[in-house]
Amino acid sequence: MEVLVINGSPRKGRMHTGRIVSHFIEGMKDAGANVDTIYSIELNIGDCKGCFNCWTNTPGKCIQDDDMTEVLGKMANADILVLATPVYVDGMTGSLKTLVDRFLPHLKGRFVIRNDHCRHPIRDHIRQGKVVLVSVSGFTELDNFDPLINHVKAMCKNMNREYAGAVLRSVAWIMEGAAEQGVQIEPIYEAIKQAGRELVSTGSMKDETLEIIRREFIPRDTVVELTQGFYNEK
Ligand SMILES: Cc1cc2nc3c(=O)[nH]c(=O)nc-3n(C[C@H](O)[C@H](O)[C@H](O)COP(=O)(O)O)c2cc1C
Repeated sequence: MEVLVINGSPRKGRMHTGRIVSHFIEGMKDAGANVDTIYSIELNIGDCKGCFNCWTNTPGKCIQDDDMTEVLGKMANADILVLATPVYVDGMTGSLKTLVDRFLPHLKGRFVIRNDHCRHPIRDHIRQGKVVLVSVSGFTELDNFDPLINHVKAMCKNMNREYAGAVLRSVAWIMEGAAEQGVQIEPIYEAIKQAGRELVSTGSMKDETLEIIRREFIPRDTVVELTQGFYNEK
């Protein structure tokens, strides 16, 4: 099984998105997946120019010759596409969105009706597997992920891929000083690995596993208190 992880965090593998996704990858590899990871911030990917040449003059090919050519090849071969991103102003990061916009060469221009909606046919060589969202947030409430989840679900309909769920960790920054706050971090990391194993071996992640990852681990008032004096406010 081929997995493509696209990590959209500008802090790449170093910080919270990277830490969470690395445990998820470990689990997927345990279950036998081949995992390729790319960092959107490192790539030379221009904004989509909206010219539609990939549907008209150069079908299936973008007129821009940049790193997206290789990424499109990787996306075409991915049984599972993992989109990993911190919540940035209620959505995905800019570099990830820029990359996703450039996926249009995988589609044909005409419309068809799919699931009672107008959509584009997918070109023949594209695998139509699953998409998983892995995300972290600074705020505490789980509904901070809602706009992003809805976006990824809608994107799946555009890509004709199955939305396979989300690995979510709010107030991810607490994980750095977890022990001081009495937060048990190992069971969370173990559940993240387990979610990766489940996805590859059964095709889905159990809700009980995802719940261990996303459940509240520190009261909100404590979080608010911890942020007082944290930033050098003038
Ligand atoms: C530009 C920017 C916008 C952000 N917007 C939100 C937001 O809307 N909601 C939220 O919960 N956290 C927000 N955050 C916090 C990040 O999601 C959080 O710091 C996350 O851990 C960053 O991921 P990283 O550690 O992989 O860099 C924002 C952070 C930045 C830098």
